[in-house]
Amino acid sequence: MSENTEALANLSHEDRRFPPPAEFAANANLTAAAYEEAATDRLGFWAKQADRLTWETRWDEVLDWSNAPFAKWFVGGRLNAAYNAVDRHVEAGAGDKVAFHWVGEPAEDARDITYAQLKDEVCQAANALVELGVRAGDRVAIYMPMIPETVVAMLACARLGAPHTVVFGGFSADALASRIEDCQAKVVITADGGYRRGAASGLKPAVDEARTKARQNGISVEKVLVVRRTGQEVAWDDAVDVWWDDLVGKQSTEHACEFFDAEHPLYVMYTSGSTGKPKGILHTTGGYLVGAAYTHWGVFDLKPETDVYWCTADVGWVTGHSYMVYGPLINQTTSVIYEGVPDAPHKGRWWEIVEKYGVTIFYTAPTAIRTFMKWGDEIPAKHDMSSLRLLGSVGEPINPEAYVWYRETIGGGRTPVVDTWWQTETGAIMISPLPGVTEAKPGSAMRAIPGIVADVVNDEGESVPDGSGGYLVIREPWPSMLRTLWGDDERFKDTYWSRWEGMYFAGDGAKKDADGDVWVLGRVDDVMNVSGHRLSTTEIESALVSHPKVAEAAVVGATDETTGQAVCAYVILRESAGFEAGSDSADLVKELRDHVAHEIGAIAKPRQIMIVPELPKTRSGKIMRRLLRDVAENREVGDVTTLADSTVMNLIAEGAKGSSED
Ligand code: PRX
Repeated sequence: MSENTEALANLSHEDRRFPPPAEFAANANLTAAAYEEAATDRLGFWAKQADRLTWETRWDEVLDWSNAPFAKWFVGGRLNAAYNAVDRHVEAGAGDKVAFHWVGEPAEDARDITYAQLKDEVCQAANALVELGVRAGDRVAIYMPMIPETVVAMLACARLGAPHTVVFGGFSADALASRIEDCQAKVVITADGGYRRGAASGLKPAVDEARTKARQNGISVEKVLVVRRTGQEVAWDDAVDVWWDDLVGKQSTEHACEFFDAEHPLYVMYTSGSTGKPKGILHTTGGYLVGAAYTHWGVFDLKPETDVYWCTADVGWVTGHSYMVYGPLINQTTSVIYEGVPDAPHKGRWWEIVEKYGVTIFYTAPTAIRTFMKWGDEIPAKHDMSSLRLLGSVGEPINPEAYVWYRETIGGGRTPVVDTWWQTETGAIMISPLPGVTEAKPGSAMRAIPGIVADVVNDEGESVPDGSGGYLVIREPWPSMLRTLWGDDERFKDTYWSRWEGMYFAGDGAKKDADGDVWVLGRVDDVMNVSGHRLSTTEIESALVSHPKVAEAAVVGATDETTGQAVCAYVILRESAGFEAGSDSADLVKELRDHVAHEIGAIAKPRQIMIVPELPKTRSGKIMRRLLRDVAENREVGDVTTLADSTVMNLIAEGAKGSSED
């Protein structure tokens, strides 16, 4: 806890307060009464939220926790996720309502998709998947750019009860292969490529490579369904590859959906843990959808008739699942989906989109906010963003300066900002201000939302008093909680439930301030948070060590002004690498950085690689990352008395001079 304590001490005194505007508070979806209602009868409160969905068969029991930590929510209930997201809105007469304003990166590419069109396309895609042999329970991997077909593909899988696993399009062929293997995906849905900063970049070649790799490990992908997006040349295997247009376009727009048990798997989302192997977080249907729909309605104060909502996350992350696809669609929202990067073709692209579509609710990550701060106020100032009425932040702690800039410069000083804390595992927002209730403090996620029981505890698992720090835990089960790790119940129990009896340990450190409000401090395990993306130090270390020139590697997350944390690696080379100490390491460092990108993906590329002769280890051989972080953050190196060899740090400081940055 020592680093955490240090962070606590450094937490500056923040006394700015932002109460909700009176009019906002008067019309808010969730009021202060909800806290009390949920505290009095938590399960009754969740049962009420479950009525946001249409159930074919109602549940008999809200929660079965008899086999904890394996929860069953809405026991006996039956429903279909796609029917809830799409069909029922069409049946209710909202077929002409726009579900998505899709904006492509090339400026001329835009398309509005109504709920009726979405229903037709999802049915066609579902029929196509059936033709490819997909049945309830089969896993389908989705490796796509941010195009409408991606949402259609997810919903088509959900409609068939075939759990999807969406793999971020920036991940490498190897990362894709390991996910395909772990969940034994039968079909992969992809595109020829996607657009990034004006250039077409291929996706299909990575799928081909991943398929070959998976086959070598005994997993055969039967079919690959390919959307034509960029028109790039692609290699083709007639026995496996099928063009989306050829197969989906000819299908019927009708598909009678089947209803599944509330606990039927909806999707698997892989995320980094503190070991090298990514964890397959399993979300099931009923509880997950209840959590996504309730929080999207309550925390974002969604008014489906008038709001235009935009979540900038990539669909390859959990935020894209809960707050771009499932939550908004279940609530019959009109949303924006944007394919590209914020600065293509110019740095005002996001604000141009806000203005054009009259976006009212906007949800993004602190790393993006800090980047815009750096680019300057004059860029957003060119656009009329008076439609915005609520802003959200997610993915990492938002520093008070960024929070206040966001509120003032993007929100014109009018908009509440909700700093939402949650995780892939939690499925939905857990700790956040309520925009019509909470007097918000910049930098604090404030309180557990109604229905959630969170706490900060000490090493013994005891609740810490206000004004102290500790570990963030959830004390009671919640509907959108992960049910297990795909194929690994033991790891599920060990990782989240073994530290303290009956409590979910989130892996984050946090502080309760004098009022009992929560300030999340970041991970206390070997997980880094780079631009709001979770990366495991061990996973990157394994990638480095898999390079023939590397003998040993240690990776730390160092504070970075824009990305929150940045990957810094210390590498000991093998003799056979033939590297002379003190010689120019630039080529070698580039080779290693590219190697990490190839093994995991560009997001994992170390910002810095330092070639060092030794690593600081305790007498028992444990690497002292704290000291490496000191070097990476250009600090005076702290206490070295527990090092087996205390001269090592001098050698490293010297070696660090040969580091490379870009
Ligand atoms: O460390 C916390 C940080 O992101 C982690 C979860 O990452 P992931 O599963 O990738 O999900 C990201 C989107 C939900 C958490 O353990 N985190 C997320 N939101 C916040 C945050 N840290 C501080 N404040 C937040 N609002």
